[in-house]
Amino acid sequence: MTAKPFNGSFVGASVISVDQFTRKAELERLFTVADLMRSRVEAKIQGTELRDSTIAILFYQPSTRTFTSFWAAVQWLGCQRIIAVPGMTAYSSAVKGESLHDTIKTLGQTTPADLIILRHPDDDSSEVAVVASSVPVINAGSGKKEHPTQAILDLYTIRQELGRVDGLHVAMLGDLKYGRTIKSLAKLLALMGEDNRISFVSPEVLRAPAELVTELRRRGVQVCETKDLGAVLPEADVLYVTRLQKEWFEAAGQMGLYDQLKGAYDITPEVLEMAKEQMIVMHPLPRVGEISYKVDDDPRAAYFRQMRSGLYTRMALLALVLGKA
Ligand code: NCD
Repeated sequence: MTAKPFNGSFVGASVISVDQFTRKAELERLFTVADLMRSRVEAKIQGTELRDSTIAILFYQPSTRTFTSFWAAVQWLGCQRIIAVPGMTAYSSAVKGESLHDTIKTLGQTTPADLIILRHPDDDSSEVAVVASSVPVINAGSGKKEHPTQAILDLYTIRQELGRVDGLHVAMLGDLKYGRTIKSLAKLLALMGEDNRISFVSPEVLRAPAELVTELRRRGVQVCETKDLGAVLPEADVLYVTRLQKEWFEAAGQMGLYDQLKGAYDITPEVLEMAKEQMIVMHPLPRVGEISYKVDDDPRAAYFRQMRSGLYTRMALLALVLGKA
């Protein structure tokens, strides 16, 4: 790992992996600042923390929530120099074969950015960017491996909704092989409470990586793996749903398998009859059929509130990294 543990301070740090969090207090600090950002945004109070900063937002993969919430976060913090490119694969010299390393070097000269926010399909893209960059890099999703800011906003949402981030039974459902969000979130749940339980629910071919399961167990988390949502749903405090990651099936030439698996899980009001009244349904989104629109009116459907957490937690992280919180 190129990026070092935070060791209690985010100032000047790249944020590339949830493995950098080693103390609960680091997340608690982040959440305290996020609460402050939340109250400021709700009161429509414009921040000035990033008034003198230049921020680059470079996305090599599609995004709705992560891209817009980072852009909004930067603006709410008063930044006036924003270089935001959502279509790096179409409009940058990546099209001509430029390496990520050289693109990051370039930004250091042309902009010059004080911080780079990067989404990229390669698992090790953040590490590559950190080597090429003289300023902090924030990983906004790297390949199939990590999505640290999503995990932070997910945990913040759980704290908001259920009032705690320990002693929870979290069921993670869907594409646990290719999906990156569950991998980052599971590790943060392990850090926040050894008494958190995780149930991975997926078809056999989409099981969570064995190394992740082993690591969670080593850290004291009770992990169960099953295909049967009904076996764990009645006990769950959180149902975290994910979509099948069609793009990775395509890349692996497995569209036949994708078509077979599509529709394997469908969260409907009838399914939720099995769940606790206090449970919440989360999803990093986008959804592509795995949660019925009829569920949206159920008070347990937290996925729209969840995306709102992205703005506050990303504001907090940016202010902390740039030493302005
Ligand atoms: C997720 C991602 O990009 O990993 N989306 C997001 O950032 N909210 C989940 C997904 O695309 O399935």
